[in-house]
Amino acid sequence: MRLLIDDANMNDIRRLYDLYPIDGVTTNPSILAKTGKQPYEVLKEIRAFIGKDADLHVQVTAKEAEGMAEDARAIIKELGEATFVKIPCIPEGFRAMKALRKEGIRITGTAIYTPMQAYLAARSGASYAAPYINRIDNMGYDGIRVAKEIQDIFEVNHYETGILAASFKNSQQVLELCKYGVAAATVAPAVIDGFVNNVAITAAVDAFVKDFEGLAGEGVTMKNCR
Ligand code: G3P
Repeated sequence: MRLLIDDANMNDIRRLYDLYPIDGVTTNPSILAKTGKQPYEVLKEIRAFIGKDADLHVQVTAKEAEGMAEDARAIIKELGEATFVKIPCIPEGFRAMKALRKEGIRITGTAIYTPMQAYLAARSGASYAAPYINRIDNMGYDGIRVAKEIQDIFEVNHYETGILAASFKNSQQVLELCKYGVAAATVAPAVIDGFVNNVAITAAVDAFVKDFEGLAGEGVTMKNCR
């Protein structure tokens, strides 16, 4: 399962890339708005940092297919061909996807709350389908279950589309989908920070260091002990 950062804050992106095996960055219009910067200013900064071939997902904002297609071409022109264009899985979105697939533009079908949307995205040529796990939960349904149903649909029909699961509130949700073999998960920095935020882990590592320094001396490590 690929792991992406669902945010546009450069400090968090740099910090998390430094720590963890991160495969890319996803954004949406609300995430861009949070930065307070102009959209392409922040997106180009992200692209320059992650590299021209890394996964970057950027969403169209037009409401009709023709406008979505124009947005998509502009996104590719500004941010490069490796960029996945996120298109909402609404009727006009599928019309845009069918047109854009012919141009070789890579598409992520987004705003997915139901398996039917994911099925249509796959059939319309999307590389990824992005179900919103936590938002589905908040509607009183089971987001993990929806994502698993989508995975089953893709597998049984031999579709090449992968799941890019999004909207997580905790690491357990991410792990559930990792166990199920989804292609990718995009996760907010605070939730990634929670992956190994556990007092038992910290206490175990601290105890190793304390025991070792008791033997070899304070500040001594394996590089300078005898
Ligand atoms: O990018 C779409 C999705 O990740 C939204 O997440 O946390 O706003 O529900 P969230």
